Amino acid sequence: MQTCANATTVAFQGLEARRVEVQVQLTPGTGAIVIVGLGDKAVSEARERVRAAFASIGLAIPPGRLVVNLAPADMPKEGTHYDLPIALAMMAAIGALPHDALDGVVCFGEVGLDGSLAAAPGALPAAMAAHGMGAAFVCPEVCGSEAAWAGGEVLAAPSLLSLVNHFRGGAALKPPERGDLIAGAGVPDLRDVRGQEQAKRALEIAAAGAHNLLFVGPPGAGKSMLAQRLPGLLPPLASEELLEVSMLHSVAGLLERGRLTRTRPFRAPHHSASMAALVGGGLRAKPGEISLAHQGVLFLDELPEFSQQALDALRQPLETGQVLIARANHHVTYPARILLAAAMNPCRCGGGGVGVGACRRGPRCAIDYQARLSGPLLDRIDIQLDVPPVTAADLALPPPPEGTAEAAARVLRAREAQSGRGAGLNAVLDQPSLEKIATPDAPGAALLAKAAESLALSARAYHRTLKVARTIADLDGSDGVRRIHVAEALSLKRQWAGAEQPGFAKVS
Ligand SMILES: Nc1ncnc2c1ncn2[C@@H]1O[C@H](COP(=O)(O)OP(=O)(O)O)[C@@H](O)[C@H]1O
Ligand SMILES: [Mg+2]
Ligand SMILES: [Zn+2]
Repeated sequence: MQTCANATTVAFQGLEARRVEVQVQLTPGTGAIVIVGLGDKAVSEARERVRAAFASIGLAIPPGRLVVNLAPADMPKEGTHYDLPIALAMMAAIGALPHDALDGVVCFGEVGLDGSLAAAPGALPAAMAAHGMGAAFVCPEVCGSEAAWAGGEVLAAPSLLSLVNHFRGGAALKPPERGDLIAGAGVPDLRDVRGQEQAKRALEIAAAGAHNLLFVGPPGAGKSMLAQRLPGLLPPLASEELLEVSMLHSVAGLLERGRLTRTRPFRAPHHSASMAALVGGGLRAKPGEISLAHQGVLFLDELPEFSQQALDALRQPLETGQVLIARANHHVTYPARILLAAAMNPCRCGGGGVGVGACRRGPRCAIDYQARLSGPLLDRIDIQLDVPPVTAADLALPPPPEGTAEAAARVLRAREAQSGRGAGLNAVLDQPSLEKIATPDAPGAALLAKAAESLALSARAYHRTLKVARTIADLDGSDGVRRIHVAEALSLKRQWAGAEQPGFAKVS
């Protein structure tokens, strides 16, 4: 009998799946299974699941001491997907599998007490890593349609026994089929929104230049309805984006039946969501909502109701396109290139300053509420717009002639113009590129200078206006930024109560 055996699996560091060798050795001694190699609680519990699974399929573990080492031993390992490589390496060590069965395969999956195999998060990136190593990927049947997207050889098995049969040359397992690829399903149309022409235009501009946006308006104005229509205006995910987004959702355990979608993500966490849910992390390192919105839209409704900690945590991904999560003994990063759409009432009680349902507590109410948002956060939001209450007359209008399809086509053309210049999307232009490609013509420059003075624009607000004007020009198919583009960009600037914007408010 062979007393040593190896199986290969992976450990996740963010989205990266690193190779891990599971080494099993049967030595004389007391009848114990010992797992070493920096595993978390789920890894050490593999022992009990595997022991029970062996018993239920009638596989006796010979007397002795089984040592399982997960190498490299200094790399932290989290999750239940180590069950299967541990079980298979043990089987090989005790002679229940041919000794070369595990050569050139990467094993991944959770083992049930009855010997069945269950899903574990991360099958897609794990299968891609296996493909990269030139190895076949062995996983639970339920992960097969997801793993098949990696393009390599995949063996998906319902149970330990079916794998044993396969490796012994009995009933061979069939390769799984890829899950479905869905395009454009279930995205609500812009045509449903009556009136609110300026807000709809703001959505189109936001989508075209990747500008973060904030809607300020009373309850019922249609802010949420508008924001939900933003993903439909963005171009469908390109192939590499699709894979990266799907990998994130895989690691979070959210890819159902291996189904991938080209529609950009839309995530709308509630303001009471925990930091772990928003940013990522928790008991096991997992992407949070900010990362799940990668390449799509993160919608934060009632923005000032989010905790200060949560709002601060947004700044890093908005600046770098990544989230860094501190773990006990290491760091994990996940991609988080998001388009932020936020909404808020003008004041805590809802109504704000004007019209029916206006706040009776005076401007102080709005100023205090708005002061919860920091200047640095608002600096990252190029479009800040008032959304007035929707009128009965607007609601009685017939559906507008143009909807999502027409606006999305204009967005696509504007994005092509941006990629043609090679300086990136307008929202992320640095100052030199901005000067080079967004300097307005003389009338535009004069208008901007006048507005900068009369509105007391900060340097940052000035640059935000220029970026938005550049996008408006791109939507217009115009090489240069003209007065009309600057004028529209200025019309998308909200007048904050008491100051140019909160965070810089002079308290009177
Ligand atoms: N402009 C609009 N056109 C059509 N329906 C609207 C409009 N604005 C609001 N509604 C209706 O009112 C409901 C509430 O709008 P919602 O987007 O939740 O408002 P808010 O987020 O500003 O509080 C929507 O579900 C929709 O049925
Ligand atoms: Mg709402
Ligand atoms: Zn109020």
